[in-house]
Amino acid sequence: MDIKSLFNINPDVVYLNHGSFGACPKAVLNELVRLQKLLEWQPIEFLASDLEHRLAESRRYLGNYVGCDGDDLVLFPNPTTAINAVVKSLKLSPGDEILSTNHEYGAMNRTWKYFCGKNQTKFTAVDIPVPVSTEEDFIERIWSKVTDRTKILFISHITSQTALIFPMKKLCRRAKEKKIITIIDGAHAPGQIPLNIMVIDPDIYSGACHKWMCAPKGVSFLYVRKQLQDLIDPLVVSWGWESDMPGKSRYLDYHQWQGTRDMSVFLTIPFTIEYLKSLNWGSLTSISREQLLQFQERLCSKLDIKPMTTTPSKWQGQMVSFILADNTDPEIVKNFLFSKYRIEVPVFDWNGNIIIRISMQPYNTIEELYLFEQALSEFLN
Ligand SMILES: Cc1ncc(COP(=O)(O)O)c(C=O)c1O
Repeated sequence: MDIKSLFNINPDVVYLNHGSFGACPKAVLNELVRLQKLLEWQPIEFLASDLEHRLAESRRYLGNYVGCDGDDLVLFPNPTTAINAVVKSLKLSPGDEILSTNHEYGAMNRTWKYFCGKNQTKFTAVDIPVPVSTEEDFIERIWSKVTDRTKILFISHITSQTALIFPMKKLCRRAKEKKIITIIDGAHAPGQIPLNIMVIDPDIYSGACHKWMCAPKGVSFLYVRKQLQDLIDPLVVSWGWESDMPGKSRYLDYHQWQGTRDMSVFLTIPFTIEYLKSLNWGSLTSISREQLLQFQERLCSKLDIKPMTTTPSKWQGQMVSFILADNTDPEIVKNFLFSKYRIEVPVFDWNGNIIIRISMQPYNTIEELYLFEQALSEFLN
């Protein structure tokens, strides 16, 4: 099957950058348009009567997919918004600390900087050197920086620039023992790795469906443990605050309705999950990951680049990043690959390292990886 033809991606582009904004199958986009037309056909029925049930069904589907109760999920347009809702609700005292790593996403770092500036709290980014070593080393590095003032642990489940899967379960357990609130930025996790939020057991988790689950842009979620749900203020105050008709959950009342907007996109979740299942997507992505990890080994043996880990099967999924030589200009690499080979990949500066990241989805082929190898080799030589 020609998987790429199921997507709208320009066939003339070697799109090795699923990680940035995902890609949505044509069938899922058609479902979105069907729902939007339904909304426009009878807006009152759709928005005032049916929407709540439809959203509940979407949350139920998503809950089954990510391993939690659907009523502990609120749908948000993106993780940035979801995490902002959490951060802006936190009541910390001056001098309290947020512990994190030096692999976090720039928009989230800014969110914390904004919060810390207003509240005189401290954000500590623990250095996790690459190549990463063992899970124990990772946990100990973080744990060695915990103090009596540490109130929040904020960590990416899969990091953006370094594309590493960070082990979360033991860390969450340890944090719980010390009453530190765990907030996991899982933007890249749903659809890329098997995700079971209940098994990881964080306090708060946000994930994007528009990346590796291939939902249309604007579908993401916030999970909050039941006992903490009342701590989260609405980012946008609307009818659900001091509601005249409270529903069964204040959490849902506060966050779900944020004024009139097109929520059809949230309703594509059941279709998206069923559609991927019908394509046997889970098996296809396992093959893609295997191909990518083998390719990485080959590439690192041939070119002067450094991998992020020497044990890829533990730390990597369908995205891998490499460090190029220090004096490379990211824009020049990116432009070379695109202008000469039509290869779309992100190249960035991460803490002084120049990094190139490739994503592999079932719509990508081994031939595309080999073309990338040829192009990068030409550039480096
Ligand atoms: C680790 C991580 N967190 C958060 C985000 C934010 O996602 P969004 O822009 O959809 O809010 C991203 C986006 O790539 C990310 O990689």
